[in-house]
Amino acid sequence: METITVSRAAMKDIKALSRKLEELLEDKTGKLYQDNVVKFAIPDEYVKKAFSAEALSKTVKSGKAIFYLARTGRGKILGFAQIIEQNPAYVELDRIVVFPEHERKGIGTRLLKRAVADQKKKRIKTIVVKAGRGEKHARAFYEKNGFKQVKEETLEFPWGKKIPIVVYHFKFDADN
Ligand SMILES: CC(C)(COP(=O)(O)OP(=O)(O)OC[C@H]1O[C@@H](n2cnc3c(N)ncnc32)[C@H](O)[C@@H]1OP(=O)(O)O)[C@@H](O)C(=O)NCCC(=O)NCCS
Repeated sequence: METITVSRAAMKDIKALSRKLEELLEDKTGKLYQDNVVKFAIPDEYVKKAFSAEALSKTVKSGKAIFYLARTGRGKILGFAQIIEQNPAYVELDRIVVFPEHERKGIGTRLLKRAVADQKKKRIKTIVVKAGRGEKHARAFYEKNGFKQVKEETLEFPWGKKIPIVVYHFKFDADN
C-alpha cells in the first residue's frame, strides 16, 4: 500500500487543496457534492466562495485556521481537517473530509489524531465538533475517537436551512 502522510498544510498546499475541492465539487452527482452541498441545501455561490483559494488562504493568514492534509508520497491529497481557534483554551474541528474513494481506511483517524495531538501541545483544554444528528457515520467516527456528546441543538445556516445537530467535546485529561 502507498505511504500516506498527514501534516500541517503550508500556504502553497492550501491552493492545491482548493483546486482539489473545486474539481471534486464540479461533479454534481459525486458523493462530496451530494453529501455536503445537496444535503445542507448550500447555495452554489456560497460553496464556490467558501472553498476558493482566496477564502481558504485568508482564514490561514488570519492565524485562526489550521489545515491538515493527508497525502500520498506523490503529493496527491486524500483528505483534510480544519481547526478553527475560538479562544486560548477552546478550538473547533470545523471540517474533516476524506475524499470518497479513500474512506474507511483509517485516514480520517490519522487526520483527527494529528489535529488532536497538536492541540494537546498547545495546552488547549477542549475540542468541539458538531455533527448532524442523522450523520451516523460521522457520529460513530467521533465517538470511536474519544469525543463525548454534550448537547443537541439546532444549527441555522446563513442561507436559512436549519438542521438538528449533536455537539461533541474532546477533553484532555491524564489519559490522553
Ligand atoms: C467521517 C470521515 C472523515 C471518516 O474518515 P474515514 O477515513 O473514512 O474513517 P476511518 O477509516 O478512520 O474510520 C474510523 C472509525 O470511524 C467509524 N466510521 C467511519 N466511517 C463510518 C461509516 N461510514 N459508518 C459507520 N462507522 C464509520 C468506524 O468506527 C471506523 O472504525 P472501523 O473502520 O474500524 O469500523 C469520512 O467518512 C468523511 O470524510 N465523510 C464525509 C465528510 C463528513 O461527513 N465529515 C464529518 C462531518 S463534517
